[in-house]
Amino acid sequence: MTQSAPVSPSETTKTNREQVFIFDTTLRDGEQSPGASMTFEEKIAVADLLDAMGVDIIEAGFPIASEGDFEAVSAIAERAKNAVIAGLARAIEGDIARCGEAVRKARRPRIHTFVSTSPIHLRHQMNKSEEQVLEIISRTVAQARNLVDNVEWSAMDATRTPIDYLCRCVEAAIKAGATTINLPDTVGYAMPEEYETLFRAVRERVPNSDKAIFSVHCHDDLGLAVANTLAGVKGGARQIECTINGLGERAGNAALEEVVMGLRVRGDSLPYYSNVDASMLTRASKLVSAVSSFPVQFNKAVVGRNAFAHESGIHQDGMLKNAQTYEIMTPESVGVSKTSLVMGKHSGRHAFKEKLKELGYELGDNALEDAFIRFKDLADRKKIVYDEDLMALVDDEILNA
Ligand code: KIV
Ligand code: ZN
Repeated sequence: MTQSAPVSPSETTKTNREQVFIFDTTLRDGEQSPGASMTFEEKIAVADLLDAMGVDIIEAGFPIASEGDFEAVSAIAERAKNAVIAGLARAIEGDIARCGEAVRKARRPRIHTFVSTSPIHLRHQMNKSEEQVLEIISRTVAQARNLVDNVEWSAMDATRTPIDYLCRCVEAAIKAGATTINLPDTVGYAMPEEYETLFRAVRERVPNSDKAIFSVHCHDDLGLAVANTLAGVKGGARQIECTINGLGERAGNAALEEVVMGLRVRGDSLPYYSNVDASMLTRASKLVSAVSSFPVQFNKAVVGRNAFAHESGIHQDGMLKNAQTYEIMTPESVGVSKTSLVMGKHSGRHAFKEKLKELGYELGDNALEDAFIRFKDLADRKKIVYDEDLMALVDDEILNA
């Protein structure tokens, strides 16, 4: 596992790699996050950015859910320049018809229809037999396929569905015309190796499975959504469903920025690429955080405030000598202007001197040492020493020299 140089936006990452399609569901599963609802204008702004950054499929909403959702999906369908625009529909005739109407004006429309397949959902939620669900799949996928050429079918709660029955369901969906088959880990229950095996097994056992693209859709209830997503790709999935900042039902979905950078940084073990322009990830994160009113945790991978910040003396010293000592990707590759060396009680002399230089101060050895002692004293009392604190401290040192 030797590390290659950190990625930069100019690097070509496609050689000898297979494409994985990125399906963003920030506007559907993400918006289902309690308290994350967005206005029409906010949804348009998010969709425009997703389209511009190279997301392959945008799930724009759930048209039957409300008039507002229908209007947002229709408007996004009409304006999208590159992405496939999908709407979600339950396996109900009226839902599918409404969804078809909403995505109709897209250059590349998709209907995404789903039904539960696990015993617990069949018994307690749907009150239907396995045979009845099979009949529903054949009928509703065929209906969707009559409206558009691009139909995704999802087996809700796939990871808690017995494999024999799941294979029968997938076979029925492909036979009825589904072009993408999604096997969601709806309740975030799977372990990575189980999810990888599931994809291998279903693809091997279902006749004509090569006629469809298989898709992963992972929830983060056990904090495994991204790990499971990448495992599913190893198992043969070629579409990843994810959301910006990992927004989504309960603990959220797999975070788009994490899977995109996982593919880019670890191409040695995952020989796949996505078309997403990674340098727009930070901007997308900030936009989604603002419109959803969901703050991004400071230590969030890839887009968190501290993702490229270093405070400890050892790390700061290493970073000043060679950034690869403590960074596996460059901040520029995800749209952050530069690494930040945060001055605090763990910072060392090397970083302190560099920081002062950056602020325009060149102190002699003695003055530098005095200032460093005073800085350490201040850092013991304050969590972070800001540039203004340092400037005041050094100005005082110079005045009293
Ligand atoms: O988590 C899930 O199963 C879903 C489906 C609607 C795809 O969001
Ligand atoms: Zn979901």
